[in-house]
Amino acid sequence: MPHDFMPGLAGIPAAKSAISDVDGERGVLEYRGIRVEELCQHSSYLETAYLLLYGHLPSQAALAKWETDIAHHRRVKYSIIDLMKCLPEQGHPMDALQAAVAALGMFYPGRNVNNLDNNYWSAVRLIAKLPTIVAAWARLRRGDEAIAPRDELGFSENFFYMLTETIPHPLWVDIFDDCLILHAEHTMNASTFTGLITASTLADPYTVVASSIGALKGPLHGGANEEVVQMLKEIGTADRAAPYVEAQIHEKRKLMGFGHRVYKVKDPRATILQRLCERLFNTCGTSQLYNIALGVERRAAELLGAKKVYPNVDFYSGILYDKMGIEPDLFTPIFAMARVSGWLAHWLEQLAENKLFRPDQIYAGEHNRPYLPLAQR
Ligand code: ACO
Repeated sequence: MPHDFMPGLAGIPAAKSAISDVDGERGVLEYRGIRVEELCQHSSYLETAYLLLYGHLPSQAALAKWETDIAHHRRVKYSIIDLMKCLPEQGHPMDALQAAVAALGMFYPGRNVNNLDNNYWSAVRLIAKLPTIVAAWARLRRGDEAIAPRDELGFSENFFYMLTETIPHPLWVDIFDDCLILHAEHTMNASTFTGLITASTLADPYTVVASSIGALKGPLHGGANEEVVQMLKEIGTADRAAPYVEAQIHEKRKLMGFGHRVYKVKDPRATILQRLCERLFNTCGTSQLYNIALGVERRAAELLGAKKVYPNVDFYSGILYDKMGIEPDLFTPIFAMARVSGWLAHWLEQLAENKLFRPDQIYAGEHNRPYLPLAQR
């Protein structure tokens, strides 16, 4: 039995998986063997979600059924909306999302995870309903009514519609859908691992996803995209980017949106997101935040390149969403809306050959201590 302790389980495989693969030295990310660049070029988020869950690209008929099933399950029950209305409006949308997803499971009692049909409909419901919950919360907290989804709109188009009550420009829909593809899956990250642990207890998928949402929230994981935009706003102008980076590194503070446990080069998702930023800004005008980000990346490459710390997926995504008028605290919920397909793919894979996660520990405490009565302490 191995006894070496690896903090953060760095380098320790926690599962055998055929869902995605990262080559951290070459900066390559594949979903089911297909590079993300190719998926962004040719696929849609929903088709990619199907690929992740079922291991192959759907036929035309299977894709049509998948899209229709998801479109028909976007609505959430009034009770879920009522529940959200009771939450404090200043609360973080990730907390509202986690609470709503946990509650969602109570409405769908098909909890026998050995039933493949139940599992299909749970996956459909979760992928379909997360955007409705995110958009509803964004409106309810301002005192506006939630907007019901429209079945005839595509997945990304409908999300914008529920958020803003307007149909977005097709370029935005296309770019946003690519963002969802890029956030859909990423091997054994913290939120996926959290979901696997919950899945291994044979808990229902709503509980699995609610636990993953909790793990995604932290600033060392999905929460970084919100902090990147805060950082760029704090820097304020492009000429202040280099001194800011120097001061952060001098003070041994982390630059948000930089560094990764696996990538030793620039995250391929950051490269694609940067291209998407340029596509968007060519049509809608540039973004001051983007110019600051370029300055941060340039100086960081000089100072952190030796440590192989480069921009990760969170560095450019928020800049895009900001230009689309999306509030910063919705960035991580949008990440969750996309990642739910990866979490569910790992959930199904775990169920196929389940073993309860129950790791060991290295005990570093004392033994045989006497109990000291309260009066003597
Ligand atoms: N800014 C400055 N220095 C950094 C950064 C950063 N963002 N990331 C790593 N480093 C440095 C560390 O200071 C450390 O230097 P040292 O060896 O001189 O002490 C070295 O690089 C290794 O860093 P660790 O934190 O030990 O690496 P780890 O693999 O544990 O961390 C992590 C990965 C948590 C993502 C880290 O890079 C980080 O905190 N980044 C900022 C937060 C962030 O962007 N998170 C999103 C990650 S992507 C995602 O989860 C979706």
